[in-house]
Amino acid sequence: MTTSSADWQARQYTLFEEERTRPVRDLLDATQPATARTAVDLGCGLGNSTETLLAYAPDARVLGVDNSADMIAAARKRLPRIEFELADISAWKAEGPYDLILANASLQWVPDHETLFPRLVAGLAEGGRLAVQMPDNLDEPAHRLMREAAADGPWCDKL
Ligand SMILES: C[S@@+](CC[C@H](N)C(=O)[O-])C[C@H]1O[C@@H](n2cnc3c(N)ncnc32)[C@H](O)[C@@H]1O
Repeated sequence: MTTSSADWQARQYTLFEEERTRPVRDLLDATQPATARTAVDLGCGLGNSTETLLAYAPDARVLGVDNSADMIAAARKRLPRIEFELADISAWKAEGPYDLILANASLQWVPDHETLFPRLVAGLAEGGRLAVQMPDNLDEPAHRLMREAAADGPWCDKL
């Protein structure tokens, strides 16, 4: 499954920011990137994961990448000193090498992991880290019930 850049809206995302940012803290706790000098946040959203990354690696030069113009605008407003790029991860070319490539809750939307992951690893500096978290919750009750409700009613041919 992929998303279109128009699917992501900063205002809606902000409503659950604290809950959404918790996994990136868990990921960075496991990665310990304090000494990273160069880092990129792929699918940076409105800059919440980028801001968290900066708290863990305050000396790093950080780039945020996202394909939603709305999210990138919010990220630039939130972190005016950080560089953000409007780009699709599928086509994005690492100008690294990076000490850390972070992708929290984004790569599940990007197809063709067989070529994507080796390409990202090739963008790492020696000893660099690729830190990825992808939710796998499509069979959780909330998702199952949404599918069932969508399929079971007079609206089913419209959804
Ligand atoms: C669930 S949000 C994660 C945001 C942030 N990383 C966080 O930890 O909260 C997923 C983000 O990935 C972006 N995204 C989805 N597909 C993308 C793609 N192909 N290229 C770039 N960004 C993408 C969306 O625009 C959205 O901002």
